[in-house]
Amino acid sequence: MSAIPDRKTNQPCGTPFGVSPERYQALDEQVETLLRQMTLEEKIGQMNQVAGSRDTTGAPANTEIEEDVRTGRVGSVFNAFGVEFTRELQQQAVGHSRLGIPLLFGYDIIHGFRTIFPIPLAQAASWHLEGIEQATRIMAVEGAAAGVHWTFAPMVDVARDPRWGRVMEGAGEDVLLTSLIARAQVRGIQGSDPDAVDTLAACVKHYAAYGAAEAGREYNTVDMSEWRLREHYLPPFRAALEEGCATVMTAFNTLNAIPATCHPLLLDQILRREWGFEGMVVTDYTAIMELEQHGVAADAAEAARKSVNAGVDMDMQSSYFIDTLSELVRCGQVNEARIDEAARRVLWLKAALGLFDDPYRYADEARETQCILTDEHRRAARTQACESMVLLKNEGFVLPLSDQHQKVALIGPLGNTPRLLGSWRADGDHDDTVTLREGIINRLGEDAVILCAQGVSNEIGDTDTSGIEDALELVRQADAVVLALGEDEAHADEAASRADIGLPGPQLELARRVLAEAGDTPVATVLFNGRPLTLTELDDMAPALLEAWWPGTEGGNAVADVLFGDVNPSGRLPMSFPVSVGQIPIYYNAFNTGRPKGVDPKYASQYLDIPNAPLYPFGFGLSYTTFEYGAIKSACTEIGLEDTLEVSLTVTNTGERDGIEVVQLYLQDVHASVVRPIRELRDFQRLSLAPGQSERVTFRITPEMRSFLNAGLERVQEPGLFRVQIGSSSASGEEIEFRVA
Ligand code: NOJ
Repeated sequence: MSAIPDRKTNQPCGTPFGVSPERYQALDEQVETLLRQMTLEEKIGQMNQVAGSRDTTGAPANTEIEEDVRTGRVGSVFNAFGVEFTRELQQQAVGHSRLGIPLLFGYDIIHGFRTIFPIPLAQAASWHLEGIEQATRIMAVEGAAAGVHWTFAPMVDVARDPRWGRVMEGAGEDVLLTSLIARAQVRGIQGSDPDAVDTLAACVKHYAAYGAAEAGREYNTVDMSEWRLREHYLPPFRAALEEGCATVMTAFNTLNAIPATCHPLLLDQILRREWGFEGMVVTDYTAIMELEQHGVAADAAEAARKSVNAGVDMDMQSSYFIDTLSELVRCGQVNEARIDEAARRVLWLKAALGLFDDPYRYADEARETQCILTDEHRRAARTQACESMVLLKNEGFVLPLSDQHQKVALIGPLGNTPRLLGSWRADGDHDDTVTLREGIINRLGEDAVILCAQGVSNEIGDTDTSGIEDALELVRQADAVVLALGEDEAHADEAASRADIGLPGPQLELARRVLAEAGDTPVATVLFNGRPLTLTELDDMAPALLEAWWPGTEGGNAVADVLFGDVNPSGRLPMSFPVSVGQIPIYYNAFNTGRPKGVDPKYASQYLDIPNAPLYPFGFGLSYTTFEYGAIKSACTEIGLEDTLEVSLTVTNTGERDGIEVVQLYLQDVHASVVRPIRELRDFQRLSLAPGQSERVTFRITPEMRSFLNAGLERVQEPGLFRVQIGSSSASGEEIEFRVA
């Protein structure tokens, strides 16, 4: 790999929490004083992170941890939350260890602490950055009130393969959308003031390219050009760090034959030298230990040496640092200055969070009881769940359903279950969750009759269709049918890749039979899932499809809001939904190839049996109203390299309901020194329009938006022809051209 930096980003990315240089310095001095008093073993102790088993009913369960905490062998505990639990553990560190250095408590708060918001992929479908920031703020407020200091979010792995179960945790396939959301999430997690007691430290992960695992198989190999890495996979990390993200987590995968957890290019060259990142780097869970399985370390000492020398500061759960680093320093294989640097970063974070001033500042019982799962938080979760739903199909205006329907058949495995939270649900509780059945009852009132039958399960591999007949009986009695289908929460998660991403179990058979039985009775299909699914057959037969993802604690209410038209759906897909698994990896910003489809009937880059285009493209989503796009007007057709071009158009709500339209601007650099994608999202605006209302939308196409990495990995802009497409998805919209001279 070349070490030529991306010049554009070869400037410091800013300080952790965005603190001023003076504040950074002051905290550093506080840390330096402490560092001078520490033994080598105590410094290494700060670099050690262990899992805590939380026990709310009494003393901490894991007594081994306690012993290590008392002897200064632990710097951070994760899976640690709850005021009582964290306070007790903190007492062990502060009251018993030689220097009384407080612990840092980490926890995976990914889309809510107790009030669970839609999964991150769903949040991305809202394209509503302020909404995402607000939801993320709430999850931080709740987490901090439960004693947590640090969350392992945001997850910014760009992913083009829906077989990978962790697509549910990211913002989808696009680099710009992921980067903007990463910024919003960091702002939400960290707030605007690290001194505030509801600030969590953020941790951008998984650095890097974890989302590109071969064949979508979890933890699998990643091999890509440095050009692609820097152009498509690294920018969201850089964006999070520019926003002040305090920490970084390494990824499990290898990248071009080197595991990310000991990757000199990623950790030393790019993160430290080019971006000047000053914060702390933690590994993923036992990732240092896994260097042995990867086959780049013969034993614990070699694994620890490689990762610490590459720039890792904290070892999550391997215990290889605590077991081997002091000997490695003594025999000269690791420089003590490297240990000082790592310990300094851990201590700096504790200082920035105010833990040296008051180690218990996050342990406040009153706050814990007042701030968690409040009505206000529930309302915010409901709003966001509504905003993330994507209307995929609405033939014959089946939706919204009329609230005159008083006999609704709710059929399918997702109709009467609280398993709507999704994976990575932190302290989220199914008992707090509004099911779809409850949501419909809340909406239609107690007099309405909801006839519920699961019909079939959504278990992978289940073939039992014996419940379908009972379900059909209910369909016959109903005046409207809601089919609730999808995945189980465990189907899209860490270590949850799927080779077949259709509806699991015999759900398609259930849909086929219900739709045939329903005749003229309206049938609305609602989908709950954590990844794009292959919906080709369902799309062929179902008139109305609403993608609800895993919508969180208020899921049932939010789906009812949309089904009955109280809320007009406005979500847009952040990932392409393929026609079939054979198209994967599939993404809208692909290259044209030398033989694009449509030029020669035979010698073309195409499939013999399926189209190239996805079933539903990136950016796609319908509304209960309609929008009309006027012609694009451009200030001129030729501009200079340093100029910004303004383009504008009028968007009108031509339907009969209030609606939100996400107006998307895509750009193509038609000829350049390296191949450029056929289109790339460069900007978007989310408009709220009343019936008949028009709004003039103006976009500014800046030099930055026209720039790209050339073959030498320098960020450049080149003269030539550009194409602008503005529309309601990546596959629609008018185009105009302009020239850069
Ligand atoms: C493994 C996951 O990959 C990572 O995202 C998570 O933060 C850690 N485990 C800690 O739970």
